[in-house]
Amino acid sequence: MDDIILKTEDIGVIYDGSIVALENVSLNVPTGKLTAILGPSGCGKTTLLKVIAGLIEPSTGTVKIRGKEIIGPGPDRALVFQDFALLPWATVLQNVAFGLRAQGVSKREREKTSLNYIKEVGLSGFEDKYPHQLSGGMRQRTGLARALTVNSDILLMDEPFSAVDEQMRRKLQEDLLELLKIENKTVIFVTHSIEEAVYLADQVVILSGRPGSIAEIVYPEIDRLGEIDLIRRQPRYVELVDEIWSSLKSYVE
Ligand SMILES: Nc1ncnc2c1ncn2[C@@H]1O[C@H](COP(=O)(O)OP(=O)(O)O)[C@@H](O)[C@H]1O
Ligand SMILES: [Mg+2]
Repeated sequence: MDDIILKTEDIGVIYDGSIVALENVSLNVPTGKLTAILGPSGCGKTTLLKVIAGLIEPSTGTVKIRGKEIIGPGPDRALVFQDFALLPWATVLQNVAFGLRAQGVSKREREKTSLNYIKEVGLSGFEDKYPHQLSGGMRQRTGLARALTVNSDILLMDEPFSAVDEQMRRKLQEDLLELLKIENKTVIFVTHSIEEAVYLADQVVILSGRPGSIAEIVYPEIDRLGEIDLIRRQPRYVELVDEIWSSLKSYVE
């Protein structure tokens, strides 16, 4: 049995006293695996991630990390946003190092760690560039490097690749999987793309439409050796995408 690093128990979220965004979400997140949260727009994916990040207090239920209930954000979880969330007036290096400032790490140490992750995400040579001088893919890599510097065991990613074109998206997906072979992270990855979920995830958690609740959990077990284009033609891959598509369709009228 997998070791469970994070657990949500019976999470419910009600906005403004009446909008039920999530209901009864109980989920086990295995250590070192990638869990995708998949569902239609508005079903509560971001809400669930924010609850796990400790940014929203749920109306019911708890989030536990290694058995201990969370009470807010913490260094054990790092967030990567869809819109990059970079500081426009800061360079790549400064943006990446920013995550460490709050932790009281010395400037020299911050730069050393940051340069290491900048290299790991493939941005060497761009340390002194500003966000507006970068492509969408490079901005997203900067956001990823920043999240990695924090050195948290859990990475929370909210549709991180949805603001880039399809070609770049595939490249980032491949690179993420490569990176995860080096970095021992547990990833919770929110997406509305079935293909992305099946390609990346060990576990795909399908949320039904509003109020979001877990409709189904699928374990892709895709053989990911080889070219991404070939992987996407595997019968198992194609079958899973179809299967998930049929089940999602029944939640979206
Ligand atoms: N701060 C908020 N106040 C009120 N309603 C919200 C707020 N944030 C999200 N919602 C509503 O909760 C539902 C789930 O939103 P969200 O978690 O952003 O979904 P998703 O990320 O799956 O698109 C939506 O109907 C949305 O309009
Ligand atoms: Mg969202």
